[in-house]
Amino acid sequence: MSKLSFPNGFLWGASTSAYQVEGGITNDWSEWEKTNAVRLSKESYKKFGHLSHWPTIQKDAENPDNYFAKDACQHYSRFREDFDMAKSLNHNAHRFSIEWSRIEPTEGKFDDEAIKHYKEVLLALHERGMTPFVALWHWTLPIWLRDKGGVESKEFATYFERYTRYVVSHLSSDVKFWITLNEPTSVIGAAYTTGEWPPQKKNLISVFRVYHILADAHNRSYKAIHEIQKDACVGLANILHSFEPYRIYSLFDLVSIRIASFFSNEYFLLLTKGTHDYLAVQYYFHNRFKFPKRIHLGDKPESDLGWEIYPKGLYNVLKKVRRYKLPIYITENGLADADDSQRTEFIKGHLVAIHQAMQEGADVRGYFYWSLLDNFEWDKGFWPRFGLIEVDYATQKRAIRKSALEFAKICQDNAV
Ligand code: BGC
Repeated sequence: MSKLSFPNGFLWGASTSAYQVEGGITNDWSEWEKTNAVRLSKESYKKFGHLSHWPTIQKDAENPDNYFAKDACQHYSRFREDFDMAKSLNHNAHRFSIEWSRIEPTEGKFDDEAIKHYKEVLLALHERGMTPFVALWHWTLPIWLRDKGGVESKEFATYFERYTRYVVSHLSSDVKFWITLNEPTSVIGAAYTTGEWPPQKKNLISVFRVYHILADAHNRSYKAIHEIQKDACVGLANILHSFEPYRIYSLFDLVSIRIASFFSNEYFLLLTKGTHDYLAVQYYFHNRFKFPKRIHLGDKPESDLGWEIYPKGLYNVLKKVRRYKLPIYITENGLADADDSQRTEFIKGHLVAIHQAMQEGADVRGYFYWSLLDNFEWDKGFWPRFGLIEVDYATQKRAIRKSALEFAKICQDNAV
């Protein structure tokens, strides 16, 4: 089969987020782990016991230590080494996030050393010819802000704007692409709808309040960035799900997916209309609905987490967001695959789907695999292995996976 080429200047890279890789952070999550690690270890069988590879993950999943991010990948001190590897893998871009609790550990007091660190991170990327995409918020909060109600605080947008202004005024000369918030709907879903993540508040009123507060925070941050930096490109990273009715002739199934699609994919974009210079799309899930709930049919390949692998879902999502007529960057797409047996096909399949959507009008300009490194997967801990690069957490040794080399060829050829 002949290769499918991507346009000149297409960005190729991988993503990380501060809390998941840096290590040594004190924030709302690190505090939450202290009172939840044992519970998470005890609940692991109920959540993951059905997975075929449970025997290989059981030891880690049942160990409370697995649920503390602690040193993570020590990326805070090893970022140069990690970027050397990314460069050797032909990445010409990289996405990372800034940790708010480092920048503003105490309310209103900004830490010059922390901002200097991120300046060095940016310099390291530029020296290696990699375009940075910088996320201002990837879910974690300074403890003082948690104590004020976190994302439910009436002042959240004010605090976020103030933090944005500080960061952007120090880093604007090194960053063109900003991401204000990472996946607001994931936080709304996991923290306030199902009540699994901190602050574990299952409350419908909070759900709507947080939608509006985060939308306000994005809108204000967008305007603040543009005030400081006229030529900035500002977006917001949205997780967009693919939806399919189980029975196409069932009005109930069709209505279910319409409602789910509205709240997962459309509502936040509606609340932030006019404040996007580009769309940052993140894709992981294909959901099938048999009224009144989602069903798992088990008829598709799955990742180590049991998530369906369905590249066509990304094609469907891109076809839908074409209508916004904005440049699109895929800022996350990846899978947990510890033995690396599915990752190459996963990446290729999704790139073919992207290419097809591009032929049909989606203006996609870059692809960032999640993640550059194995990392701390939130309430699941360390056993899910998403990395192009394997991390041995006992020694902090890195090993480039075979799939990373296959992806490197794609990045080099600018074609799949
Ligand atoms: C998040 C990442 C997470 C990944 C895999 C994304 O939704 O932004 O932080 O690690 O999914 O679950």
